[in-house]
Amino acid sequence: MNPIEISPAQFKSLCEQFLAMASDYLTEMDSRSIPAKVSGAEVDRIFGAPLPEIGLAGEALRAFSDVVQHSRVQNGRFFGYVLGSGEAAGAASDLLCSVLNQNVTAWRSSPAAVTLEKTVVSWLARIVSCCEFRGVLCGGGSAANLMGLAMARETKAPANKRGIPSGPPLAVYASTEVHMSIPKAIALLGIGRDNLRLIPADNSFRMTPSQLEQAMLRDTERGVVPIAVVGSAGTVNTGAIDPLAEIAAIAAKFGAWFHIDGAYGALGAIAIPHKFSGIDRADSISLDPHKWLYQPIDCGCLLYRDAIAAQRAFSYSGDYVRALNNDPIESFTFFDESIELSRRFRALKLWFSLRYHGLAAFRKSIENDLQHAQRLGASIEATADLQLMAPIELSAVCFRYVGGRHTESDLDRLNSEILRCVVKRGNVYLSNATLQSRFCLRACVVNHRTTNSDIDRVATEVLAVAKEVDSAN
Ligand SMILES: Cc1ncc(COP(=O)(O)O)c(C=O)c1O
Repeated sequence: MNPIEISPAQFKSLCEQFLAMASDYLTEMDSRSIPAKVSGAEVDRIFGAPLPEIGLAGEALRAFSDVVQHSRVQNGRFFGYVLGSGEAAGAASDLLCSVLNQNVTAWRSSPAAVTLEKTVVSWLARIVSCCEFRGVLCGGGSAANLMGLAMARETKAPANKRGIPSGPPLAVYASTEVHMSIPKAIALLGIGRDNLRLIPADNSFRMTPSQLEQAMLRDTERGVVPIAVVGSAGTVNTGAIDPLAEIAAIAAKFGAWFHIDGAYGALGAIAIPHKFSGIDRADSISLDPHKWLYQPIDCGCLLYRDAIAAQRAFSYSGDYVRALNNDPIESFTFFDESIELSRRFRALKLWFSLRYHGLAAFRKSIENDLQHAQRLGASIEATADLQLMAPIELSAVCFRYVGGRHTESDLDRLNSEILRCVVKRGNVYLSNATLQSRFCLRACVVNHRTTNSDIDRVATEVLAVAKEVDSAN
C-alpha cells in the first residue's frame, strides 16, 4: 500500500474524531472568549514545530485541539468586519467536497459539480432579480470584483492581446466609500490606482450621482476614457446602498461598464428586495454567499449579463483542456469564463445548505440581522454617552463613545482604546470604521447565532470599558 494511503476504516476513525472536535467547538463556542487569549509569540511557539520526517499518524491529531483553542470564535456576539457566521449544514457538506475532490473546470471533468454550480448561480441571480445573468463561484468578493473589472477593461479597452493601449488614459469611478478590493483590482489590471475617481458621498454615505456625472464629463472633455463605474450595494463601512438606477443611467450615457459590488449587501435582497432597485441594470455584480448567506469561507460569486464579455476576458485554452464534443451542455467550461482553472466544488455546501434550510429560513435569518442592527441602533440612541455615526441601512452599526469632555481628536484616541479593550475582554467582538475622518466603533450583524441578549451586550460592554479607559486617562 502506498505510504500516504489510509484505509476506509482509518478514514472513518479520523472523521469521527474530527466530528467530535467540531461538535464540541459548536457546543462550547457561546461560553468562550471570542479572540484566543494568547500572545503572538505563544502561537508561533505552538505551531512552529518542524516538519516531521516520519509521520506521527494519530498523534498528529492532538495538535488539532490547539488549532481549535487558538482560533477566534464566531459565536452570536461576533460583529467584526463583514464576516458571515459559517452555518453548520454547509460546513458538514464541505467534507464531502474534499473527499469527492471534483475539479470544477468543465462539464467533462465533473458533470454533477458543474451542473450544481450553474444551478446555485441561477438561484443567486434570481434572488437579486437578475434571472438572465450567468455567473461563476469564486473565492470571495475581492476575486469577484477583480473579475468584473477585468471584463469591463477587456470590453471597453481591450488589452489581453497587445497589453494596455498607449492611447488616452482610462478612468474608473466609485464613491469614497468603496471597498479596498476595487483600487486593488484597478492596480492589478494595469489601469492605475490614480485613475480611480473617488466620487463624494452624501451624508448617508451614498454616492452623489450629480458629482459622478460631472467627473465623467470633465474626464471626457480632457480625452480620458471612462471605462467603468462601480456602485456599492452595501458599503463596507456603513452598509450604504448607492443609488443604483441613477448610476446605471449615467454609466450608460458615457458608454461605461456598470459593476456593482454587492459582496456585503446584495444578498439582503432575499428579505428587502426594494432596497436594491436598479441592480438589474448592472453589467456585472459581485455577491458573497460567505457573508449574508452564512456559508463557510470560501464562497463568492460573480454574476454577469453577457457570457461573451466573460469569455473575452478569460478564454484562453490550451489543447490539454480542449472540449471533446459539441453538445452545448457537455462542452461547457468554467475556465473560459473565470480566472481559475482548478476550482473547488464550492457549490456543494451552498446547494446543500439552501436546500436543507430552504429560502424562507435564510430570509428570516437576514430579517433577524436587520432587526438586531436596528435594536442596537435604538440602544445607542437611548444612551447619552453613545452616538450613532451613520444611518443603519442594512446591518452595520457605526457609533462612538462621546461621554466626558473630550475634543474630537481625544475621542478618536479614546474610542480606539475602547475598541482594543472591548476586543481583549472577549465578550463581544467589534471592529472599526473611519467616517468623515472620525474613528468609530462598528458592529456588523451577519450572524445567524445572534440573539437579542447578544445585541444588548454591545452597549453594556462598551460603556463598562469606556468607564475604565476614561478614568485611566
Ligand atoms: C463591500 C465589500 N466588497 C468586497 C469585499 C471583499 O470580500 P471578500 O472578503 O470576500 O474578498 C468586502 C468584504 O468585507 C465588502 O464588504
